[in-house]
Amino acid sequence: MMPPLVYASGIQQSLAEDTAKILGTSANSKQEFNHLPHLYLSEVGLSFFHPEARSTNQFRIDFNSGTTGWRIKRANHEKLIKKALGKSERPLNILDCTAGMLQDTLLFLSLGHQVTALEQSKILFHLLQDGISRSEDQNIFIKLDLIHANACSYAAHAKNFDVIYFDPMYPPSKKNALSSGQLEYISKILEVESLENNATKDFEVLQLIPARKMVVKRPIKAEPFSFQTNYQVSGKTTRFDIYI
Ligand SMILES: C[S@@+](CC[C@H](N)C(=O)[O-])C[C@H]1O[C@@H](n2cnc3c(N)ncnc32)[C@H](O)[C@@H]1O
Repeated sequence: MMPPLVYASGIQQSLAEDTAKILGTSANSKQEFNHLPHLYLSEVGLSFFHPEARSTNQFRIDFNSGTTGWRIKRANHEKLIKKALGKSERPLNILDCTAGMLQDTLLFLSLGHQVTALEQSKILFHLLQDGISRSEDQNIFIKLDLIHANACSYAAHAKNFDVIYFDPMYPPSKKNALSSGQLEYISKILEVESLENNATKDFEVLQLIPARKMVVKRPIKAEPFSFQTNYQVSGKTTRFDIYI
């Protein structure tokens, strides 16, 4: 069920009502939802709150804070992703089947590629759109097409992609990067929307999309989804399985 949307003050009322209508929920001015999962619209943007999340902060997508930090921290990851994509004379047309917080998509975009990013969660899709609209750097998003869709439903229409990228949720029990506050919040969002994935089944559908290659991100110790992996690019905790 879609959680209620609470707005901070009358200034946000009209936007809150429009957003609530699109999401299929109610807009409320009363701050009486703190014991329940809810969306919150204030002057800093749209956020999501879940009372059972370990983080007591609201979950918000903010592309403005720590951009440089993000780059430095992700430099190693960027090296691996570059290797996984391989050399290309021209910008690639990439289908990111699992948008998430758009971190990998941002790497693809920063390398000059064109990206279509798919996100199945309506809530996350709206948080991303809100984050993008508030981004001080709009240029990075010029070559991004962000779509609210399940990748398996989109697969039948997917054409002209060079690379299919798939980074499914890690199994919930794993103690890994995905149990970070932000990724725990994504799990909570999927739970609230009753979205369940079977990554193996998704992989089977997505690998049928015509493309030059498919890149699948996996925890380092996880089994590949298929034994037809052509090669692998491994880091300390993450591995990319490449199918040609
Ligand atoms: C591990 S996160 C991806 C993180 C992302 N690569 C990043 O860098 O921020 C997985 C995301 O993919 C989405 N997802 C999983 N399966 C999907 C599918 N079949 N279609 C669309 N989105 C999917 C989930 O809702 C979740 O937001």
